Amino acid sequence: MVESEGGTLSKNCSEDLFKGLARAPHNLIEALRKVQAVYGYLPPEGIKLAANYVGVPFAQAYSVATFYHQYSLEPIGKYRILVCMGTACHLSGNSLNIEFLRNVLGLKQGQKTTRDRLFSVEEARCFGCCGLAPVIVVQKPDGSNEIIGRANPRSLRATLERYRRLEAGEKK
Ligand code: FES
Repeated sequence: MVESEGGTLSKNCSEDLFKGLARAPHNLIEALRKVQAVYGYLPPEGIKLAANYVGVPFAQAYSVATFYHQYSLEPIGKYRILVCMGTACHLSGNSLNIEFLRNVLGLKQGQKTTRDRLFSVEEARCFGCCGLAPVIVVQKPDGSNEIIGRANPRSLRATLERYRRLEAGEKK
Protein backbone atom coordinates (compact mmCIF):
# COMPACT_ATOMS: atom_id res chain seq x y z
CA MET A 1 0.00 0.00 0.00
CA VAL A 2 1.33 3.37 -0.96
CA GLU A 3 1.06 6.01 1.73
CA SER A 4 0.95 9.72 1.15
CA GLU A 5 2.69 12.26 3.31
CA GLY A 6 0.36 15.18 3.97
CA GLY A 7 -1.31 14.58 0.62
CA THR A 8 1.92 14.58 -1.38
CA LEU A 9 3.73 11.64 -2.82
CA SER A 10 7.00 10.82 -1.17
CA LYS A 11 10.04 9.76 -3.18
CA ASN A 12 10.41 6.85 -0.81
CA CYS A 13 7.09 5.43 -1.92
CA SER A 14 8.06 5.18 -5.58
CA GLU A 15 9.56 1.71 -5.11
CA ASP A 16 6.20 0.47 -3.77
CA LEU A 17 4.14 2.44 -6.25
CA PHE A 18 6.02 1.24 -9.31
CA LYS A 19 6.83 -2.24 -8.04
CA GLY A 20 7.58 -4.62 -10.91
CA LEU A 21 7.87 -1.80 -13.46
CA ALA A 22 11.24 -1.45 -15.20
CA ARG A 23 12.83 2.00 -15.01
CA ALA A 24 12.58 2.73 -18.72
CA PRO A 25 11.07 5.62 -20.72
CA HIS A 26 8.68 3.30 -22.58
CA ASN A 27 6.97 2.61 -19.23
CA LEU A 28 5.90 6.23 -18.77
CA ILE A 29 2.23 5.57 -19.61
CA GLU A 30 2.05 2.68 -17.16
CA ALA A 31 3.83 4.70 -14.45
CA LEU A 32 1.29 7.53 -14.85
CA ARG A 33 -1.55 5.01 -14.75
CA LYS A 34 -0.26 3.64 -11.45
CA VAL A 35 -0.07 7.12 -9.91
CA GLN A 36 -3.64 7.85 -11.03
CA ALA A 37 -4.85 4.50 -9.69
CA VAL A 38 -3.62 5.50 -6.21
CA TYR A 39 -4.65 9.16 -6.19
CA GLY A 40 -7.63 9.13 -8.50
CA TYR A 41 -5.92 11.80 -10.60
CA LEU A 42 -2.45 13.06 -11.47
CA PRO A 43 -1.16 15.74 -9.10
CA PRO A 44 2.01 17.55 -10.30
CA GLU A 45 4.17 15.71 -7.77
CA GLY A 46 2.78 12.40 -9.07
CA ILE A 47 3.72 13.29 -12.66
CA LYS A 48 7.18 14.27 -11.44
CA LEU A 49 7.58 11.02 -9.56
CA ALA A 50 6.59 8.98 -12.63
CA ALA A 51 8.91 11.04 -14.85
CA ASN A 52 11.84 10.59 -12.48
CA TYR A 53 11.18 6.89 -12.11
CA VAL A 54 11.22 6.10 -15.83
CA GLY A 55 13.89 8.72 -16.61
CA VAL A 56 12.14 11.29 -18.78
CA PRO A 57 11.85 15.09 -18.34
CA PHE A 58 8.83 16.42 -16.44
CA ALA A 59 7.65 18.32 -19.54
CA GLN A 60 7.45 15.08 -21.52
CA ALA A 61 5.47 13.32 -18.80
CA TYR A 62 3.19 16.34 -18.45
CA SER A 63 2.45 16.44 -22.18
CA VAL A 64 1.57 12.73 -22.15
CA ALA A 65 -0.67 13.26 -19.10
CA THR A 66 -2.54 16.06 -20.86
CA PHE A 67 -2.80 14.28 -24.23
CA TYR A 68 -4.60 11.08 -23.21
CA HIS A 69 -8.17 11.41 -21.99
CA GLN A 70 -7.78 8.55 -19.51
CA TYR A 71 -5.65 10.83 -17.35
CA SER A 72 -7.00 13.69 -15.28
CA LEU A 73 -5.00 16.50 -13.71
CA GLU A 74 -7.85 17.27 -11.30
CA PRO A 75 -9.62 15.06 -8.78
CA ILE A 76 -12.19 13.00 -10.63
CA GLY A 77 -15.43 11.29 -9.71
CA LYS A 78 -15.87 7.61 -9.03
CA TYR A 79 -17.69 7.34 -12.36
CA ARG A 80 -15.98 9.29 -15.08
CA ILE A 81 -18.33 10.26 -17.90
CA LEU A 82 -16.44 10.94 -21.12
CA VAL A 83 -18.45 12.74 -23.77
CA CYS A 84 -17.07 12.34 -27.28
CA MET A 85 -16.70 15.67 -29.02
CA GLY A 86 -15.50 14.21 -32.32
CA THR A 87 -17.32 15.61 -35.34
CA ALA A 88 -19.90 12.82 -35.71
CA CYS A 89 -20.84 12.82 -32.03
CA HIS A 90 -20.75 16.58 -31.65
CA LEU A 91 -23.11 17.06 -34.59
CA SER A 92 -25.47 14.25 -33.67
CA GLY A 93 -26.28 15.28 -30.12
CA ASN A 94 -23.35 15.36 -27.72
CA SER A 95 -23.20 19.15 -27.58
CA LEU A 96 -26.69 18.97 -26.05
CA ASN A 97 -25.97 15.81 -24.06
CA ILE A 98 -23.01 17.38 -22.27
CA GLU A 99 -25.11 20.41 -21.32
CA PHE A 100 -27.81 18.07 -20.05
CA LEU A 101 -25.31 16.16 -17.91
CA ARG A 102 -23.79 19.35 -16.48
CA ASN A 103 -27.24 20.71 -15.64
CA VAL A 104 -28.66 17.57 -14.13
CA LEU A 105 -25.52 17.04 -12.03
CA GLY A 106 -25.41 20.67 -10.92
CA LEU A 107 -21.95 21.38 -12.34
CA LYS A 108 -21.03 25.04 -12.59
CA GLN A 109 -18.89 26.59 -15.33
CA GLY A 110 -15.42 25.02 -15.18
CA GLN A 111 -16.46 22.41 -12.62
CA LYS A 112 -16.22 18.83 -13.83
CA THR A 113 -16.74 16.76 -10.68
CA THR A 114 -19.83 16.62 -8.49
CA ARG A 115 -19.47 17.67 -4.85
CA ASP A 116 -20.01 14.11 -3.68
CA ARG A 117 -17.21 13.00 -6.04
CA LEU A 118 -19.52 10.42 -7.60
CA PHE A 119 -19.47 11.69 -11.19
CA SER A 120 -17.16 13.66 -13.45
CA VAL A 121 -18.15 14.95 -16.86
CA GLU A 122 -15.41 15.55 -19.41
CA GLU A 123 -15.06 16.13 -23.11
CA ALA A 124 -13.16 13.44 -25.00
CA ARG A 125 -11.75 12.80 -28.45
CA CYS A 126 -13.20 10.30 -30.93
CA PHE A 127 -13.44 6.79 -29.48
CA GLY A 128 -13.37 5.21 -32.93
CA CYS A 129 -16.96 3.94 -32.85
CA CYS A 130 -18.57 6.83 -34.72
CA GLY A 131 -21.26 4.53 -36.14
CA LEU A 132 -22.84 4.63 -32.66
CA ALA A 133 -22.80 8.44 -32.48
CA PRO A 134 -23.41 10.20 -30.26
CA VAL A 135 -21.18 8.11 -27.96
CA ILE A 136 -20.57 8.54 -24.25
CA VAL A 137 -18.26 6.28 -22.23
CA VAL A 138 -18.52 5.78 -18.49
CA GLN A 139 -15.26 4.68 -16.87
CA LYS A 140 -16.14 2.65 -13.80
CA PRO A 141 -14.08 2.31 -10.62
CA ASP A 142 -13.15 -1.29 -11.45
CA GLY A 143 -11.45 -0.05 -14.62
CA SER A 144 -14.13 -1.32 -17.00
CA ASN A 145 -16.05 0.94 -19.39
CA GLU A 146 -19.70 1.23 -20.28
CA ILE A 147 -20.21 2.46 -23.82
CA ILE A 148 -23.46 4.31 -24.37
CA GLY A 149 -24.28 4.58 -28.06
CA ARG A 150 -26.92 6.88 -29.54
CA ALA A 151 -26.94 8.67 -26.21
CA ASN A 152 -29.75 11.05 -25.38
CA PRO A 153 -30.98 12.77 -22.20
CA ARG A 154 -33.38 9.93 -21.46
CA SER A 155 -30.74 7.17 -21.64
CA LEU A 156 -28.29 9.36 -19.73
CA ARG A 157 -30.76 10.02 -16.93
CA ALA A 158 -31.39 6.28 -16.68
CA THR A 159 -27.63 5.61 -16.55
CA LEU A 160 -27.08 8.14 -13.75
CA GLU A 161 -29.97 6.69 -11.77
CA ARG A 162 -28.63 3.15 -12.21
CA TYR A 163 -25.23 4.12 -10.83
CA ARG A 164 -26.82 6.07 -7.97
CA ARG A 165 -28.89 3.01 -7.04
CA LEU A 166 -25.78 0.85 -7.23
CA GLU A 167 -23.96 3.23 -4.87
CA ALA A 168 -26.92 3.35 -2.47
CA GLY A 169 -26.99 -0.45 -2.42
CA GLU A 170 -23.25 -0.68 -1.78
CA LYS A 171 -23.46 1.70 1.17
CA LYS A 172 -26.20 -0.26 2.93
S1 FES B 1 -16.79 11.02 -33.31
FE1 FES B 1 -17.53 10.12 -31.46
S2 FES B 1 -16.85 8.07 -31.55
FE2 FES B 1 -16.01 9.01 -33.32
